[in-house]
Amino acid sequence: MSLQTPRCTAATHVTIIQRGGETGSDPGAFASAVRQGLLANPKTLPWPYFYDEEGSRLFELICQLPEYYLTRTEDALLKAHADAMVAGWERPPALVELGSGSAIKTQRLIEAALRRYGSVHYLPIDVSSTFIEESAESLLRVYPDLRITGHVADYRTELGRVAERLTGPKLVIFLGSSLGNYEPREASALLRQVAWVMGPSDRLLLGTDLDKDRAVLEAAYDDAQGVTARFNLNLLARVNRELGADFDLDAFAHQARYCADLERVEMHLVSLMDQTVTIPASRLTATFSDGESIHTENSYKYTSARLKDLAARAGLEEEHAWTDDQGLFRLQRWKLKGTH
Ligand code: AVI
Repeated sequence: MSLQTPRCTAATHVTIIQRGGETGSDPGAFASAVRQGLLANPKTLPWPYFYDEEGSRLFELICQLPEYYLTRTEDALLKAHADAMVAGWERPPALVELGSGSAIKTQRLIEAALRRYGSVHYLPIDVSSTFIEESAESLLRVYPDLRITGHVADYRTELGRVAERLTGPKLVIFLGSSLGNYEPREASALLRQVAWVMGPSDRLLLGTDLDKDRAVLEAAYDDAQGVTARFNLNLLARVNRELGADFDLDAFAHQARYCADLERVEMHLVSLMDQTVTIPASRLTATFSDGESIHTENSYKYTSARLKDLAARAGLEEEHAWTDDQGLFRLQRWKLKGTH
């Protein structure tokens, strides 16, 4: 059942639509995902479970780290080119954001759209109700003319519903290289899903990290202050908190490995000794040998050629792309193939 909570502020309108719980709010699903991952060979734990309250807080810190160039590079591109990114329509496009998070970078686009069109309808979709509510509140403080319809849901299931209700053009926004956490097959499926809800006057604005030097990439995922290590280890802490497990966090080490052939950075938690861990809610006793790892995340890095191929597979094509001088990060605006 979906709960719809419309709320009005003095000058504008905010609607928050609650569709489902946050990732992991279903303890049964979390317990079985952990069981399945730790029974696999090699062992894995699913990355969407990084983002509980503590994980989301740590990720916000990661975005400010000197080594994590992604956020500031993307933000600089948005700052420099937001006007062009939202241009091209005769009437304001709805801004539909997938995994909006704190929506800090999106402000650049909202501001540019307000400048150009006078009014904007912003539709963020995120699994975190806290993010949706807090970002709506702070956006309205700065842009009282903004209309917001926030969707607390998984964007993979919600996007179709959101698109169905929109009559005018839309710009679907997917920032932060979040696409990179999906396996190539999943990324293609997600892009096909986006293409499916797009009409000839719609566009996708996609932010993607680019493939680069091993040293730069490994530092971005293994920072000197150890924030990324805490982010990774928080997954074990979460299993302890929510599933009653007895992981000793000091007995695992964070590791970031760049795999050039697979064009991805892998995050692992490596067992520092032979050990046994009990996870009661998953009905599991897992044994780890010294040096054995739990693979927790992939972060794919793209080349322009690979991105063009991804677009083509989804029935999309590039309209324009923006890259920084050092070629670290790329934002691209895609449209349905063969449309103008
Ligand atoms: C959210 N996502 C795009 C981040 C990334 O860069 O893959 C998650 C992250 N993992 C470690 N640091 C950041």
